[in-house]
Amino acid sequence: MRAAVITEPGSPDAIEIIDIATPEPGPGEIRVRVAAAGVNPVDLQTRSGAFHDLGWIDQPDHVGLGWDVAGTVTAAGSDSGFAVGDRVAALSEGVDRALGAYAEEVVVPAGAAAVVPDGLSLTDAATVPLNALTAVQALDLLGAPEGRTLLVTGAAGGVGGYAVAFAAQRGWRVTALARSTDAEFVTAAGASALITEPTDSYDAVVDAAVLADAAVGLTRDGGHYVGVIPPAVPDGAGRVRTEAVMVTADSRTLAEALAATATGALPVRVHATLPLEQAALAHKAVEAGGIRGRHLLIPG
Ligand SMILES: NC(=O)c1ccc[n+]([C@@H]2O[C@H](COP(=O)([O-])OP(=O)(O)OC[C@H]3O[C@@H](n4cnc5c(N)ncnc54)[C@H](OP(=O)(O)O)[C@@H]3O)[C@@H](O)[C@H]2O)c1
Repeated sequence: MRAAVITEPGSPDAIEIIDIATPEPGPGEIRVRVAAAGVNPVDLQTRSGAFHDLGWIDQPDHVGLGWDVAGTVTAAGSDSGFAVGDRVAALSEGVDRALGAYAEEVVVPAGAAAVVPDGLSLTDAATVPLNALTAVQALDLLGAPEGRTLLVTGAAGGVGGYAVAFAAQRGWRVTALARSTDAEFVTAAGASALITEPTDSYDAVVDAAVLADAAVGLTRDGGHYVGVIPPAVPDGAGRVRTEAVMVTADSRTLAEALAATATGALPVRVHATLPLEQAALAHKAVEAGGIRGRHLLIPG
């Protein structure tokens, strides 16, 4: 089968299409024929060598890309709970691996997957896992709102959009930091205010725009900052509690997010679909910035 990988980190043109043996699922795993794989910033960071620089990558041949996947189960290991033919979405987790979701088939733990509800396309479903799970888990770090105010930076992005929606559902008073052109989206997601230049301070911050120290500066004394870059948590200087979310697979939360997407309670945000062979093109577009919605790679 074909997969998009890197052998050396670098520019988007470092992405190669290779032929590779189709992986076999072990106990508790499933193999998914990929209908769509989402392109996310973590894939750009992997490709450009950010995790090589941290010493997190130890692959002899090549490194796989892609965390977001939806497709059809083609093989189910024992105790997976899934059957061949099931339509699923999954978080294909990890940076130090030979194969990710940018492939014709991928093996994932059953605990990272959930059935895609009827009526939700696999392409749309592939936009959900990474960013919905990250947003939920970032909010879990903050605990119950208890009347606190929340600033979500990058509120119109993949993580930020879900963070606004889930926070509003949980009863937070959410201020969205986004571009003025994002007003309609963040308001529909549940933000009570949109700001483009922050001036106030907030009880809690989810920093999906990675403003780091600047966002800690927007957190009030005794407040709580949650970042999205675990190796680079800004210092709260004893004034602000600072930590970062590190997303983990959670099939129950994924199933809930897929169900909410199927009913329209959560928006579907697809920017473009491209053949797997055009992964480099997708990386170039995402790197240029300003994109709303995901690029999805479709194996032919
Ligand atoms: N730790 C984890 O487990 C985890 C999981 C998922 C993602 N992440 C990380 O989270 C980060 C965000 O991911 P994403 O998928 O949400 O990225 P994204 O879709 O590109 O969203 C980032 C958003 O931030 C906006 N932004 C940046 N600077 C801004 C500013 N000064 N004011 C207003 N808006 C601003 C961008 O707007 P423009 O496009 O207009 O600049 C964009 O809408 C990435 O670094 C990713 O690697 C971490």
